[in-house]
Amino acid sequence: MKNNPQEFKAIADVVVEKLKDYLTESQAGKGKVLVQKPITELAELMHLEKWIKTGGFTPQAASDFLDTYLPNTQHLHHPNYIGHQVAVPHVAAGMADFIHGVINSPASIYEMSPSAIAIEMVVVNWMLSKVGWFKGDTLANGQPISGNGGGILTHGGSAANLTALLAARAAIAPESWVDGTPNDLVVLGSEVAHYSVARAISIMGMGKKSMLPVAVNDWEVLKPEALRLVYESAKNEGKRVMAVVANACATATGLYDPIDEIGHFCEENNLWYHVDGAHGASALVSPTERHFLKGVKRANSLVWDTHKMMQTSTLCAAVLFKDYQTLGTTFQQKGSYLFHEKEEVGRDTISYSLECTKAAIGTKLFWVLAATGEKGMAQFIDNLYQKTRQFQQIINDHAHFNSPYTPESNILCFQYTPFGTSNEFQLALRNEIVRRGNFYITSSEVRGIRYLRLTVMNLLTTEQHILGLMQEIIKVAADLKKK
Ligand SMILES: Cc1ncc(COP(=O)(O)O)c(C=O)c1O
Repeated sequence: MKNNPQEFKAIADVVVEKLKDYLTESQAGKGKVLVQKPITELAELMHLEKWIKTGGFTPQAASDFLDTYLPNTQHLHHPNYIGHQVAVPHVAAGMADFIHGVINSPASIYEMSPSAIAIEMVVVNWMLSKVGWFKGDTLANGQPISGNGGGILTHGGSAANLTALLAARAAIAPESWVDGTPNDLVVLGSEVAHYSVARAISIMGMGKKSMLPVAVNDWEVLKPEALRLVYESAKNEGKRVMAVVANACATATGLYDPIDEIGHFCEENNLWYHVDGAHGASALVSPTERHFLKGVKRANSLVWDTHKMMQTSTLCAAVLFKDYQTLGTTFQQKGSYLFHEKEEVGRDTISYSLECTKAAIGTKLFWVLAATGEKGMAQFIDNLYQKTRQFQQIINDHAHFNSPYTPESNILCFQYTPFGTSNEFQLALRNEIVRRGNFYITSSEVRGIRYLRLTVMNLLTTEQHILGLMQEIIKVAADLKKK
């Protein structure tokens, strides 16, 4: 393949045609949702070593390659994909990725891609407006406004959580950037906070033990009375609370912490309040489901992934701040080749983000919103949340299945009970279902008890598919018991 416009068109035609077939078959639920061949066999089937060493990929070779590559991926568009919190991407997001891949428009400094950075600014303003942190008349407003929020897109929720905690540290101990983190700082958060929170704390040199876990109820929702106790005991030990972290929603169960109540507590005690809404902040777009985030305006920072609930491909996350000035305090480093005095016609994002070079990730969200409109996006989220409640009903209508709590998002936990509810058996069930490849589901432990877990990401997943899954579980369980 030559690196020229004609060859580009020839190969793009091949790729588009193959992807069209892939989408058609996946969406029709044809074939398996997942086939997992051994890794060496797969590497050989794709002739990876040969291509790396010799080059010479042609449109025909690309077509043959895709005949192996595509079937051996997870089929997220297949209605039986009910697995991880990874978006079934809208085709519009694919267009944004495609354009970015061809032109490469890093969204870090304005002069490298004015249009991508303008898009980042507008989608961030749109997200801020959903939280109630945007005071401008138009989303195109790029000027600082007193009382306005601010935000930045990052490559994923983990980077966003780290950024938010760095902002919290800059607020309580601004000298940390130069002197290192003082050892009296602690973070209080749900004992089931996503591991990226503990990881961020370790990365910041605070040591994992600086995360003081706050007890949760049986379904992993933070108990406000436990938060008070942990706070009092931290204070008594002479610790300073750098941040309080709430889940919106918990990764395993999909249930929201009491966002408003925790917010009141943080306000009363003047504590930095961080809401990890990597999964569930998207409900803010939906007039019917946004009540789960009531009080989110009380937060100082909010993480919101769009590659979970808003149909963008990986990755596009946002870290949003109540006060736009936080952006300027979080990172204090300077690089003379990037951060120099210049006549700025637009806004560089580099000073405010963890990444140096950053992809034009905002374009994915823009393209999807440009296709669906915000109402369409709200309907999409409503639909997934409603379906999940319906699916729970179907599961609980069967005497041998038990889903123990009412879902609040699109995450649902349940067990198949006739052969007991041991963790080993539920896990074995999940593993065998995935091995057979007709359905893709996950499993998670909630307070030491293992459940099968669904994340309903695909509008094409219907009651019939859930009934089909239940039949598959019954069959697999019987086969496992025979062994
Ligand atoms: C609550 C929560 N926070 C953070 C993350 C990490 O996000 P990412 O995978 O985008 O890094 C996840 C991922 O599942 C999550 O569920």
